[in-house]
Amino acid sequence: MAINKDSVGGTLLVAFLVCVVCAIVVATAAVGLRPLQDENRVLDMRMNVLQAAGLYEPGMDVNAAFERIQRRFVDLDTGEFVEMPESYDQRRAARDPATSSRLASSEDIASIRNRPDVAEVYLSVSDDGDVQVIILPVSGYGLWSTLHGFLALGSDVNTVVGLGFYEHAETPGLGGEIDNPRWKGIWPGKELYNDSGDLAIEVLKGTVDSGAASAKHQIDGLAGATLTTKGVDNLIQFWLGSKGFGPFLERLRSASTNSVDDSEDDEFTVSVVN
Ligand SMILES: Cc1cc2nc3c(=O)[nH]c(=O)nc-3n(C[C@H](O)[C@H](O)[C@H](O)COP(=O)(O)O)c2cc1C
Repeated sequence: MAINKDSVGGTLLVAFLVCVVCAIVVATAAVGLRPLQDENRVLDMRMNVLQAAGLYEPGMDVNAAFERIQRRFVDLDTGEFVEMPESYDQRRAARDPATSSRLASSEDIASIRNRPDVAEVYLSVSDDGDVQVIILPVSGYGLWSTLHGFLALGSDVNTVVGLGFYEHAETPGLGGEIDNPRWKGIWPGKELYNDSGDLAIEVLKGTVDSGAASAKHQIDGLAGATLTTKGVDNLIQFWLGSKGFGPFLERLRSASTNSVDDSEDDEFTVSVVN
């Protein structure tokens, strides 16, 4: 039976067929490209870890460089390493009440509401097994968005190696200046703890007095972006504090060694065996 293209029924039929064809094309592309998207997500995350650790150079083979990095898991309450499946996703775990803890408002300085019970850490390990850089995932609210990034510490568990954010929606030119290499360049060499062993690092509103004794713990705030700056300070205080990686860092600092060891001793060591 011939269909009159110009009739209402014909128009609806053509529109319907176009929709079906488009839906098939989009669905096929989405399913077909998923493995590539997953691969790119992993590559991007690895690049960000390397960048925070100061190990990234443009054009490098990211996967090859990442072979020096161990991904480990830490129980945030005890600070101890725990075994988790490779597929563990810390951000997903933070959204699941079964694998996260609800923070009281007095504890939630980074405004993240829920904290995962287990966090991942990345360790850059030298050929002879020494841990050279400890890379911690950090997150917290800025002005418009939750900032997600990595803070890298040296093997003394005190000196900052780098800080970088891989996801946020702060305003370009204002809060977005957290991505500015010049601002990120202020972080390396800053020290977390003062002589009494207290957490002293802070992001100021304004500029650091370079002559002050506290300057080695302080980072300039971003002009015109006080709220994002405060968000960065808050997330640093949270993740280095007792509800974040504090217990883990405390264990590292008090351990007699932070060199890689594959013994099964109770003593705190970083095992080569994942
Ligand atoms: C369109 C618009 C976007 C803004 N984006 C940011 C931002 O991303 N981060 C931020 O801290 N402040 C942002 N601000 C400025 C804040 O509203 C606030 O004025 C500022 O944080 C105060 O910083 P100051 O004390 O350094 O001037 C924005 C303001 C406007 C009008």
